Amino acid sequence: AAPSAAEDLPDIIGHRGSAGTAPENTVPSMRDARTAGSELFEIDLQLSSDGVPFLFHDATPGRTTDVEDVFPERADDHITSFTWDELSRLDAGSYFGTPFDGTRIPHLDAAARQARGSTGVNIEVKEPAASPGVEQVLAESLATDPDWQRLLRQDKLVVSSFDVGSLEAFHELAPHVPVLPIVSELPDDETLASWAEYAGGVVTDYRNLEAADVDRVHALGLDLATYTVNDPESMQHLTDLGVDRIITDFPRVLARMQAGQDP
Ligand code: G3P
Ligand code: MG
Repeated sequence: AAPSAAEDLPDIIGHRGSAGTAPENTVPSMRDARTAGSELFEIDLQLSSDGVPFLFHDATPGRTTDVEDVFPERADDHITSFTWDELSRLDAGSYFGTPFDGTRIPHLDAAARQARGSTGVNIEVKEPAASPGVEQVLAESLATDPDWQRLLRQDKLVVSSFDVGSLEAFHELAPHVPVLPIVSELPDDETLASWAEYAGGVVTDYRNLEAADVDRVHALGLDLATYTVNDPESMQHLTDLGVDRIITDFPRVLARMQAGQDP
């Protein structure tokens, strides 16, 4: 295939910020994604037990925080059982390396502040059943924060979730915000067509993607994003297939590839 024109290249979405180069879902990670030239950075959103929206991927704090030191009995507790004050005492950076010691779990607001220049945000609502009311909290934040409003006007804000019911509920509350269902494997055309009634695209695991799926998704009027693509060969392959967005832990690698440099 001939090299794509620059405007045809897939958008770069930094995964959990830039999870390959900084602690996931933290300010340094979002900053890395931005300075790498990502069109968007993806973050995972949950609600604390006292209703504060924060960025975190896992269901439990053990893998990415020092919970064993701070709350030794609570490493296996669900992350949403912690209050915002408790979450704020955890170190979410040192697991990645000592340069990140003291990095805190961010409030959702931090993502709005980190999305600057040409970089926007993909907010993934993570396991909404464990964060009751998260759709309402998110809709309110997006409706009232001037940074979110600016990103919306610039077409640099999307909300996604594996929980399609939650996404529909959010869409009812905030019909002007673009939403993307996430699936590990693409469903049949009938299901995709029902999503196309309110969603602008779909996000799927690139390992389960077949070449014919790209045209199938596009024919239904949906954009296609793929996660989590970390090796340059797969990045190139998906580019050649014509996917619209690539989610990667290494946005700088994809940016260099797109610029014709050695990844
Ligand atoms: O948003 C796509 C991707 O982040 C989904 O997987 O588990 O990393 O949130 P996960
Ligand atoms: Mg995610």
